[in-house]
Amino acid sequence: METIHAVIHGMESDRAVLREAARIIRQGGLVAFPTETVYGLGGDALNPASSKKIYAAKGRPSDNPLIVHICRLADLEMIVEEVPEAAKKLAGAFWPGPLTIILKKKGIVPYETTGGLETVAVRLPSHPVARAFIEAAGGFIAAPSANASGKPSPTLASYVAQDLDGKIEMILDGGEVGIGLESTIIDLTGEAPAILRPGYVTAEMAREVLGHVEIDRTILDADSGVKPKAPGMKYRHYAPSGELSIVEGKREDVIETINRMCAEAGGNGLKTGVIGTDETVAGYDADSVKSVGKREDEEAIAHSLYRILREFDDEEVAVIYSESFSSNGMGQAIMNRLLKAAGHRIIETGKERL
Ligand code: TXA
Ligand code: MG
Repeated sequence: METIHAVIHGMESDRAVLREAARIIRQGGLVAFPTETVYGLGGDALNPASSKKIYAAKGRPSDNPLIVHICRLADLEMIVEEVPEAAKKLAGAFWPGPLTIILKKKGIVPYETTGGLETVAVRLPSHPVARAFIEAAGGFIAAPSANASGKPSPTLASYVAQDLDGKIEMILDGGEVGIGLESTIIDLTGEAPAILRPGYVTAEMAREVLGHVEIDRTILDADSGVKPKAPGMKYRHYAPSGELSIVEGKREDVIETINRMCAEAGGNGLKTGVIGTDETVAGYDADSVKSVGKREDEEAIAHSLYRILREFDDEEVAVIYSESFSSNGMGQAIMNRLLKAAGHRIIETGKERL
């Protein structure tokens, strides 16, 4: 299959491109598109055959449900049994935007889209290209992140092409995304609202709107052995090809330890990479040293994390050491993704000395 690459310019000519994208969706094909979080791989959410194609293109296990993207709040009741008060409050506060809400599905949503579940994840994105595309294509777009399963979510159209060229009909290129990490997921089908995946909308922000909000135990304690409620959270994820480890401890100890391990790995002929911050990068000695931004700037770190992981892949770096980041606010989402990317390999410099 030849994948069409279409750049969106924010001009009249975009209309023809969106019409073509909509035609592909209505015929059961797949179109990747930008959102404010990461690029999505879209298909008709109400067409079981389209959802099957999404799983095939990504190489994703089919028990891992898709998010249904809508462009109008009024469309929510078309696909869910009931819109509870909590959903209205969350939508009022955070939609359009980087929040996904899980509710009981209506029969119109096929099990192929929900991975066999009776619930459906719904999001109303704010990105203008996403919204224009969803509207043109009929209003209900199932879309996981537009990466090959296991890879970091794409923040640029060129990363989508790297993973999916030849496997999907079209890529809408809207430039680099803003946030850079996937949406926050809040489950409203349990006894209390619960965050299943941390993101830009933090627990504190959700609590301001809903009062009590729980955080799924598997996010707080990754080694709890409890099965995550969002099926996708159980898979190794967001990972670069090189082996990534997180190094924790006092700043000087971390730099010293990372430099020593890089020297060792380099001695064994392995290409080495380091993820540091603006404050520390000058202190590292490795084949490739990258800064995620200023240490206190969580938004900048979220924005550059997946791009950096992909750059290490492009450079064929074999071992990567990353500093650890604060887990306050958006930091919880950053550390959640970084820990998964590292397969939970953490090196504590204090303990290592003993
Ligand atoms: O920001 C985002 O959410 C991006 C953009 C494209 O919108 N999408 C995204 O989709 O990250 P995906 O498929 O990569 O991640 C969806 C997550 C998975 O972990 C999946 O298991 C979970 O949402 N999920 C979807 N439906 C669910 C449901 N009914 N119950 C529990 N978890 C669900
Ligand atoms: Mg994903």
